[in-house]
This record gives sequence, structure tokens and C-alpha cells, in this order.
Amino acid sequence: MTDKATLEYNGKKYDFPIVKGTEDELAIDIKTLRSATGGITTIDPGYKNTGSCSSAITFLDGEKGILRYRGYSIEELAEKADFLEVAYLLIFGELPNKQELDKFHADIKEESNVDEEMKKILDSFPKTAHPMGVLSSLTSALIAFNPSTVDVSSDEAMYHAIVRIMAKFPVLVAWTMRKKKGLPLDYGDDTLGYVENIHKMMFKKPTQTYQKNQIVIEALDQLLILHADHEQNCSTSTVRIVGSSHAGLFASLSAGISALWGPLHGGANQAVLEMLEAIENDGGDTKKYMAKAKDKSDPFRLMGFGHRVYKNFDPRAKIIKKAADRVLGDLGIKDPILDIAKGLEKEALEDPYFVDRKLYPNVDFYSGIIYRALGIPTEMFTVMFALGRLPGWIAQWREMRLNNEPIGRPRQVYTGENYRPFVGVNER
Ligand code: ACO
Repeated sequence: MTDKATLEYNGKKYDFPIVKGTEDELAIDIKTLRSATGGITTIDPGYKNTGSCSSAITFLDGEKGILRYRGYSIEELAEKADFLEVAYLLIFGELPNKQELDKFHADIKEESNVDEEMKKILDSFPKTAHPMGVLSSLTSALIAFNPSTVDVSSDEAMYHAIVRIMAKFPVLVAWTMRKKKGLPLDYGDDTLGYVENIHKMMFKKPTQTYQKNQIVIEALDQLLILHADHEQNCSTSTVRIVGSSHAGLFASLSAGISALWGPLHGGANQAVLEMLEAIENDGGDTKKYMAKAKDKSDPFRLMGFGHRVYKNFDPRAKIIKKAADRVLGDLGIKDPILDIAKGLEKEALEDPYFVDRKLYPNVDFYSGIIYRALGIPTEMFTVMFALGRLPGWIAQWREMRLNNEPIGRPRQVYTGENYRPFVGVNER
């Protein structure tokens, strides 16, 4: 095997080194392409063939359906770890020992107050506002109450910023949902575990003491772990590229939330539920919608199917499918939406259109079903995704800053008009 790739253009040959990752992934290092060739660039819309960085955080193999955080398999982490341990692992690179984990949690609790003024900002949003827009705005607004930039050369400053956002973000998430539901805003309880506290902040009824529900807490914990990182996806790339201009952590996260909002990315879990509801309201005819999904003249797509990277199965979908069965079974929920989901899944897995294109249910196909069973409003589903993705975004932002990556600034191939002289308004 050679360690270089040769490009031949206009009778001249140019060599570029091959970079090899720890899992034997190969990439052509084209850093010198423009300078060596006198200006040739590459074009790759959607970055399907472009590695934007080297990263030691998450490994995924879309063909084999492998997902690992810092070397640990998602299956083992989802079964044996809790979300806070996984967050620590992603951000700092190693699983914490008991002392490190306790300190991380204690430091988070210390920072869990959100300035009361923030409530005024939240109040000024109409109840109909989409929670993702609200969350992105509130995350941006946090900057006004906290230092806008982090001294990345100081481990202490970096740690402090991380702990701060890990503490305050769940409060913003819970407030966003309580506002949507017309409930009074609530704070957490320092005696509770990290995810238990999130559950309390979201669901505690104003007239009752907090009712702990272990099944729901475990399901939430697992969902958050499954969403915690997914290497250079759209929102993570957004966080890294915004941060590459040396914008602060909270500003970068706020941009990541906006990127996650879209229905082709995190917004898919909401779109899945809306699609299932629409099919139910239309008489539950899954075959009709299968036909629509395959019809190229119809823009309808089967939401929750297909993935940019996983082309055989999404390992998270396997875990979450089991979790969905468990939660619905344990909570004794019979949901016609679930029957429609199962029907669609069965038909798609046997249909040549979906099989040939390697379109399988992704994580979002099932996560929405669980969120619905937990009583979370549909519009909040993507917010739950953001809550899970928070440690991944932080880890990727931290890695990008510590690696001193250059500002993200892609090139283009210009296809507009050539030079033309300006024409005054009366001559046009
Ligand atoms: N329903 C019907 N057809 C589909 C679907 C779908 N859900 N997904 C892809 N296809 C078809 C395309 O029409 C295309 O067909 P063609 O080859 O005949 O033109 C082929 O499959 C390949 O599709 P692309 O759009 O090129 O695949 P890409 O990798 O760019 O897109 C994506 C992946 C965006 C996830 C796509 O599958 C999709 O839109 N799925 C539905 C939305 C969704 O569930 N998103 C969640 C992603 S997971 C996440 O963000 C956590």
C-alpha cells in the first residue's frame, strides 16, 4: 500500500500524503492542493467525502453499524453507564473515577442557578414559539450573564465554562417546556441525580411533591446517552465552525441548536411523530404513505428512515427500539401510533426501494415514540435531543480549540456572471 495519492492534471502530477486514523480510516491530505496546483480546489456539496478535522472523540462505521465514544461501544455505555459519566468521558477523554464523578456533579450543582432576569426573556416569547428557537435564544442570552469568551489556555477556565453550561442548560430546557405547558418555572433539587433532577424540573406538578419514576428516569438517561455525540454531523460541524472564529462556547452552542432544529437532522424526531399522526388521521393506511415515499414526483419522505452515514443499520435505533418496547410495556401504554410505526417499519424493511437504497429506521424513528409516552410535547422532542447532544458539542468545541484549529472557511466554484459594467437605474 502506498502512503500517497497522485493527482494528474494537465500533464502534471501532484502527490498528496495519505492520512490513516486509528481505525485504519484513510484520507487524502489535500492541505497543499491549492498552493501546489496554483489554485485548484475540490468541490463536495454536503461534505459527503470531506473530513473537516481529525478527532479522537467518536468513532462510527456506517457500514458495520459501529458507534463508540472514546473507544467504548454505545451498546455497553447505554447498558452500564449513566449520562453524567458519558458526558465526562466525551468531554475529558476518560471515564471518571468515583471521586472525579462526584466532584463533577458537585461543581455542576454549584452552578445550577440561572439568573432570574432570564425569566423575563423567556416570558417575552409567545407560548406558541417553537421551543428550539426559544432554547437557542436563551442559550445566547446566557452570554449576557456570563463571560462571553473562555480563556482556552486555562484548564480551570475551560472546566468552569463546561460545568456552568452542563448545569444551566437543563434548567433552560425544563423552563422552555414548562412555559409551553403553562406551568410555573421550577428549580432543581441538589439531592437528586443529574438526570433525576432533569426529570423533576420538567415534570414536577406545582401542587404535588416530586414523584420519582425510575422507569422514566432510566429511559431518559439512555436516550440522552444515545444522542450524546455523533462525530461531525450538521450541528456539531456548526458548533466547531462557529467556535473556530473564537466565538465563545455558549454562542457556538446556540448556533448548534439552530442547526439541530431542521427536520433533516434533529427535527426528524418531531417530524416522525407528526407524520405518524397524519397517517393515523388519514385512516392509518401505511401502504398509501409507502407509495408516496417512493414516488419521485412527491416530496414526501418517510421520516425516521435513512441516514447520511449508517447504510446498514443505526446501532442506536436497535437499543432504542428495545427501550421503546420496555417503556410502553412498563407504563402500560397502548398507542395506535406505535402500531402504525411498526407497520411502516415492517413494510419498509421488506420493500426493494428501501432495501436497495439501504434505508433503515434511524434513532429518531423510535425516540419520538418514547418521548410521547413520557408525556413530552411533540415540539419539545428536538429540545430533548439537544439536551443529550450537549456534552458532544462541548467535547467537540473543546477539542477544536485545544487543537488550535484554523477558522473554518470553505472555498467555492463561482458560477455567476462574469464582469459586467454597472448600469445606472434609469438605463436598466
Ligand atoms: N424516504 C424516502 N426516500 C428516501 C429517504 C426517505 N426517508 N431517505 C432517502 N431516500 C432516497 C432518496 O430519495 C434517494 O433516492 P434516489 O437515489 O432514487 O434519488 C436515496 O434514498 C438517497 O437519499 P439521499 O437524500 O441522497 O441520502 P442522504 O444521505 O443525503 O440523506 C437523510 C440522508 C437526510 C437522513 C435522508 O435519508 C432523509 O431525508 N431521511 C428522512 C429524515 C430523517 O429521518 N432524518 C434524521 C437523520 S438522523 C439524525 O439526524 C439524528
